[in-house]
Amino acid sequence: MLPHIPLQEVSEVVARGVNYLVSLTESYPYLSYAGGAVFAAIVTQWLAERRRNPRGLPYPPGPRGLPFIGAFYEIPETKPWAAYKEWSKKYGNLIFYKAMGQNYLIVQGVKEVNDLFEQRSAIYSDRPPQPMAADLLGWKFNLGWQPYGPWWRRHRKAFHEHFNPNVIQKYDPVQNRELYRLLGKLLREPARFTDHIHNLFATIIMKVTYGITISDDDKDPWMTTIFESLQSIAKAGIPGLYLVDHIPILKYIPSWFPGAEFKREAERGKKVTDRLVMKPYEAVKESLRKGDAEPSVVAALISDLPAENDPTRAEEETIAANIGAVAYIAGADTTVSAILACLLGLAMNLDAQRKAQAEIDEYVGPSRLPNASDRPSLPYVDAIILETMRWHQVAPFGTPQLNVKGCFSEVNTETGLAIIFTAIAHMTSEDDEYDGYFIPKGTTVIGNAWSILHDEALFENPSDFNPDRYYNNPRTLKPDVTFGYGRRACPGRFFSDRNMFAMISAILAVFDILPPLDERGKPMKLELNPTDGLQS
Ligand code: HEM
Repeated sequence: MLPHIPLQEVSEVVARGVNYLVSLTESYPYLSYAGGAVFAAIVTQWLAERRRNPRGLPYPPGPRGLPFIGAFYEIPETKPWAAYKEWSKKYGNLIFYKAMGQNYLIVQGVKEVNDLFEQRSAIYSDRPPQPMAADLLGWKFNLGWQPYGPWWRRHRKAFHEHFNPNVIQKYDPVQNRELYRLLGKLLREPARFTDHIHNLFATIIMKVTYGITISDDDKDPWMTTIFESLQSIAKAGIPGLYLVDHIPILKYIPSWFPGAEFKREAERGKKVTDRLVMKPYEAVKESLRKGDAEPSVVAALISDLPAENDPTRAEEETIAANIGAVAYIAGADTTVSAILACLLGLAMNLDAQRKAQAEIDEYVGPSRLPNASDRPSLPYVDAIILETMRWHQVAPFGTPQLNVKGCFSEVNTETGLAIIFTAIAHMTSEDDEYDGYFIPKGTTVIGNAWSILHDEALFENPSDFNPDRYYNNPRTLKPDVTFGYGRRACPGRFFSDRNMFAMISAILAVFDILPPLDERGKPMKLELNPTDGLQS
């Protein structure tokens, strides 16, 4: 039985639509058919939604914007994580708006995050579709971009097997060797510390994933492949830039079709993506065949593949190749950003630095460097890592960045921002009701980790870098949300955390981290000024 829909509501919608159409067709008479079709589609959608929400529950509060385009012009362009925190004073911890036909829900607040992403994870774990980037350019190789379902689950399981907390210590030897090289480089060229740290983590992840050694310079062929692929995705990932993202059926038109330039562009991009995924994978396969492969995640995945004649072999092989590529793409610059933020925090808080160094001197002593297994004896360094992840969100919107060093700044920083935004946001896979509100299926759901971790009610002076808050009070809220939510929470976080601890404790054991000097030789005043990209 159809639910009762108040006549007044229907007539208001119809009247608004008719007014709009009349004004449009007066100026552009040929638009009347197209306008009629769009209007019919909108009314149909509206009626369908009323059927799915028979009690007529309202959406959560938020700006309602203008007809058709919704709140498009109200979406904050700069530092959206901070802007939405401001909005929460007016709308609360759940903010809902529509923009260009898409529903958005911003979730801020520990309770709301837990209730939706964790307790209802079965319906809050999908990703918004991206026909151009994910399907046509082939970025659905990346489990972070895959829709929630069996294919994603198989990738996630394979990834977890090699990056879960019980196995990651086997990567310590690679990590320690590279770490010692880093210390040497920092001693020789301290001013190039960002380059050294970027190179260090790229080296570790390529070695762990493929057993491949990359060179120190920017011309390394493996890095070039990654760079090219990120350049190709930079434009394709902008939500809504391509018509095919609005009308997905267009992805089936042939590339020779007049006007189908996007298909030709996608074909070029797909070749680059295939190189990114397959080139290092084939190199490992070849090394295994020759018997000179170094131990690595991909070597282990290949060795575990079913027999050649097994019907699941082809799929398992695709998963193995995809896992290798995603480890680098999702992992490299995220950890680097966190380490750089930590060094900044330490340079701003010399007292914290002294406390950590005293702890290292006492428990580790001068005859060796600390490493990841010293963690239980170094609670102050542990507090520094926790405080770093709270203080500075690498991905304040639960959206890690995907670029290699400098990639998006050469392509377009804003572009990078857009890709990441849609790629890693969650999406509801069912209609839901929460706290008296209706949340439709297909809503893009974004957790605002920054707003939670800078909540004055939970953290005194949240913008200060102050590891004492964790050291003195272990019950202080841990910064877990910085790694995302529910079933999609970052599966690389244990690996990243272990690397970070090893690096920061080793750096603190041998160096002081001080602010640069100004032209008069005085230490410069430092401040945290996160960039506007979703990775800061
Ligand atoms: C400081 C370091 C890192 C931060 C802050 C971070 C943060 C995140 C966040 C916020 C997400 C999205 C979670 C969600 O959708 O709710 C994510 C996803 C992901 N991260 Fe990380 N990450 C880091 C390091 C790494 C590393 C080192 C790796 C790989 C070795 C990695 C692999 C992934 C993958 C594969 C996903 C997609 C998960 C999925 O969609 O199921 N991350 N990360």
